[in-house]
Amino acid sequence: MPARESAGLEAVGSVAVRTFAAHQSIDTARTRAVRHAATGADTDRFADYDDDLTGGQLYDPDAEYEPDPEYAATLAPDAARQRRERVGPTGRPLPYFPIPGPVSEHGPATIIAMCNQKGGVGKTTSTINLGAALAEYGRRVLLVDFDPQGALSVGLGVNPMELDITVYNLLMERGLAADEVLLKTAVPGMDLLPSNIDLSAAEVQLVSEVARESTLQRALKPLMQDYDYVIIDCQPSLGLLTVNALTAAHRVIVPLECEFFALRGVALLTETIEKVRERLNPELDLDGILATMYDSRTVHSREVLARVVEAFGEHVFHTVIGRTVRFPETTVAGEPITTYASNSVGAAAYRQLAREVLARCHAE
Ligand SMILES: Nc1ncnc2c1ncn2[C@@H]1O[C@H](COP(=O)(O)OP(=O)(O)O)[C@@H](O)[C@H]1O
Ligand SMILES: [Mg+2]
Repeated sequence: MPARESAGLEAVGSVAVRTFAAHQSIDTARTRAVRHAATGADTDRFADYDDDLTGGQLYDPDAEYEPDPEYAATLAPDAARQRRERVGPTGRPLPYFPIPGPVSEHGPATIIAMCNQKGGVGKTTSTINLGAALAEYGRRVLLVDFDPQGALSVGLGVNPMELDITVYNLLMERGLAADEVLLKTAVPGMDLLPSNIDLSAAEVQLVSEVARESTLQRALKPLMQDYDYVIIDCQPSLGLLTVNALTAAHRVIVPLECEFFALRGVALLTETIEKVRERLNPELDLDGILATMYDSRTVHSREVLARVVEAFGEHVFHTVIGRTVRFPETTVAGEPITTYASNSVGAAAYRQLAREVLARCHAE
């Protein structure tokens, strides 16, 4: 209730969205204290890895060439070899992903489902930061929190418990306009369809609906012209909510943590994607496997990444997201890494991912 009452209305495209000031109202001193308490233990371990790119090397998108030296530097100790041989962390030649030009018109949206039934692999982190990086490049972005845990909403500074209208209502209540649910985030050009625990009821209630797999697709339809990208943060399961996300989507991104059991369960996931493509959504494409939490200093991480590339070849994004404590910090701060630590290697990685996604979408 309080969140709705304090929310203003603002017009975006043909829809009005509620403004939400939660992010700005966070008490900075308290946040910093919490941040330290939450991450202090790991800070030393990653100290050399997480430093901002200081010494005059601020992020300058125009200064990039093949391979992006700033990005390669995050992948030490192989950075020198990578530069010399022009290979990326996945062991393949690293293509140049151009800085995207501005767009004068928006829509219709490309819908991306961020999907892996395993939890803790970086779905929510990738949704927030890919979205924020695309918005920085002038794209209009809608993020859909499709996990009853509401982690995406929390990560953007929204308290899901205070919301009385969420994506759940959009799914279940015929006649409810999307603009009653939309929240504007602190990132210009990026909006959010928030969720909370209410969404867990939808999984049960949808079972008896007609065309239950395409409920989200129908709900998103009126918004398609207002956005360039819609990114759906899926819950860690292959249940009906995830099938709804896959039915609505044009493309799927599967984040994989560079850990020993990363590939476990991926066969089941690709099978599910295949089934949805055959039966419900012929447009669906497995866009890519995104390696996350990569630590090039461990042989283990490098081996896992090599296995992933062996298994999925060109489906693996050239962009690899390194492991850094900056990401857990951003959740506490309630903002994307692109604004929280704009010059960090993590922000640079998600900007490169955004350019790679744009390049892949335009290549078709
Ligand atoms: N590249 C990364 N390096 C370090 N920690 C990360 C990274 N990506 C995500 N995390 C952290 O790992 C945890 C799980 O990530 P999250 O994005 O919530 O995964 P999922 O949505 O798949 O469950 C979170 O605490 C997040 O801050
Ligand atoms: Mg999540």
